[in-house]
Amino acid sequence: MIRICSKILILKTLVYISLLLILFNQGCNSHSEKEIGEKRNKASSAPTIHVVFTGEENGYLEPCGCSEVQLGGLSKRHTLINHLREKDGNWILLSLGDLPGKVGRQDEIKMETALEALDLMGYVAHNIGEKDLNMGVDLLGYLSQISNVDFISSNMDFTTQVLKIKPYVIKEIKTKGTTLKVGILGIVSPRLIENTYHGMEVMDPVLSLKPLLSDLRDKTDILILLSHAEMEESIKIAEVYPELDLIISGHLVDRPDLYLKKVNNTYVIPVGEKGKYVGEITLSTRQKESGEDEHANSSSPVIETIPLDGRFEDSPEIAMLLKIYQQRLKDEDLLAQVFKSDPPSNLTYIGNDDCAVCHNKIFKHGEETGHASAYETLVKSEHEYDPECVECHVIGLNYITGFETIESTPKLKGVGCESCHGPGSDHKETLSKDYGKVGVENCEICHNDEHSPHFDFKDYWQKIKHPREKEKGG
Ligand code: HEC
Ligand code: HEC
Ligand code: HEC
Ligand code: HEC
Repeated sequence: MIRICSKILILKTLVYISLLLILFNQGCNSHSEKEIGEKRNKASSAPTIHVVFTGEENGYLEPCGCSEVQLGGLSKRHTLINHLREKDGNWILLSLGDLPGKVGRQDEIKMETALEALDLMGYVAHNIGEKDLNMGVDLLGYLSQISNVDFISSNMDFTTQVLKIKPYVIKEIKTKGTTLKVGILGIVSPRLIENTYHGMEVMDPVLSLKPLLSDLRDKTDILILLSHAEMEESIKIAEVYPELDLIISGHLVDRPDLYLKKVNNTYVIPVGEKGKYVGEITLSTRQKESGEDEHANSSSPVIETIPLDGRFEDSPEIAMLLKIYQQRLKDEDLLAQVFKSDPPSNLTYIGNDDCAVCHNKIFKHGEETGHASAYETLVKSEHEYDPECVECHVIGLNYITGFETIESTPKLKGVGCESCHGPGSDHKETLSKDYGKVGVENCEICHNDEHSPHFDFKDYWQKIKHPREKEKGG
């Protein structure tokens, strides 16, 4: 813990110095995303609040840049939020939970980084998802203490822990001459929890919410539940508690607006995945309507789902946080800690140079393709110490005898012969013709939907296919 604390202090100082520098340069920033938020300006005269909701980042802090069509990223999100704030004051920013993706040191650093970003953007609450819980009590406890973002969980018992996690929060929002009290609660579905968390018990959401809601009902004007559960379960909660105005839900849904449901007077809407879209909803004070209001449109709040695409520039402040994140990966030498399994057929990676001796034509041609400079691509974007990037931009990172660091294994940088053909130690000796059959599936390890959405074997292989090596002998 000491280690994290002192690191954070230094990092924070760095961030603030950078922020000062950035502020000097900001005057000339122009926004090209004018149309965003226009719908909202036509809202009614009743007092309203605007809610921005995101979640289930699952460790996705930024698009990797592998393909130009990728959406999302904290940095673009910040630009959007700044833009929304310019138009209107009363925003409330909520996070559904699951900032990290996997378990391990890199995701711990990710969670800290993501939380600093939420803090910077002015989020008021972060609900605890199962992946946040996976980070363990120490980190959650520490982060809950230092962050300005309130951690909430209405169905976990934290009384025995040193965690600053609240069952709910009430936020006061000044709007149109009045002050609205917004109650925010948060649950995680027990169905998503596999382990027990150091004595933290996850209780039935419906039962847990009952006493809290009967307390909050009269104290608040608007009630919002962050429901870290599947839509089906969130809808059931809406059926039991009509006093909830809005339920922000999860799990595993792509685009939020396609799934909006209205249950009596409660809107249930998912966040979508990986922060690719930002959901925005304008709510007015609770109406005790009695009529059957089947259609979301008849008295519907304004809802927008905004894809974070190329319209949004990167926010310099978050870009700086992400730079520090990369620096921490380097400082902690995470590349050296990547888990390595036995290489295919227990062979050894030897590097392109060894193949060149006999397959010179193919080698020379290979040097001219993008594959050969895949490592340099990472250096250019300052991601060469990020194991999650290096994995696909070198030979065999995840295997014993594969790439380790640029100093210890310089011959294995870039996508090389053995990235497709497999380790070549044996073939080099036996010259076996059985070696190295390659098919689409070998490409798709790296050219997957996320990193290479336009991948088509025929097209792609055509661009890089080997020259015939017959004449020169091989
Ligand atoms: C699953 C494998 C994979 C991972 C992980 C990965 N990349 Fe890539 N990357 C690719 C592939 C495949 C391409 C080529 C995509 C295409 O052209 O269709 C690519 C292309 C790129 C390009 C564009 C190169 C160019 O000149 O057009 C950049 C930049 C890049 N990656 C950076 C990164 C960064 C930064 C990370 C980590 C955040 C990363 N990559 C993680 C597979 C990966
Ligand atoms: C000492 C020379 C030598 C070295 C070193 C060598 N090869 Fe070969 N390779 C050969 C010969 C000879 C053949 C058989 C060619 C033939 O009969 O068509 C062959 C065949 C192949 C084949 C084709 C198998 C098939 O389907 O017919 C692949 C793929 C291959 N080599 C890849 C590599 C790679 C990758 C490396 C480096 C890891 C490498 N070779 C290193 C000599 C070598
Ligand atoms: C180990 C991961 C990996 C494997 C396996 C892989 N690629 Fe790539 N590929 C990449 C990366 C990374 C890039 C981007 C390189 C860059 O520009 O930095 C890329 C880029 C490309 C490009 C654009 C490069 C250029 O010169 O225009 C083509 C085409 C391509 N890959 C085809 C294929 C095909 C076909 C296969 C399978 C036979 C394949 N790749 C297998 C990682 C991989
Ligand atoms: C992007 C993946 C990829 C990389 C990298 C790659 N190869 Fe290949 N290689 C293939 C595929 C796919 C084939 C099968 C070609 C076919 O079926 O027409 C092949 C075929 C071969 C063959 C069989 C002869 C031929 O031309 O069909 C040899 C030899 C060979 N590769 C050697 C190499 C060497 C040496 C390197 C590194 C300098 C290398 N390859 C890098 C995908 C790759």
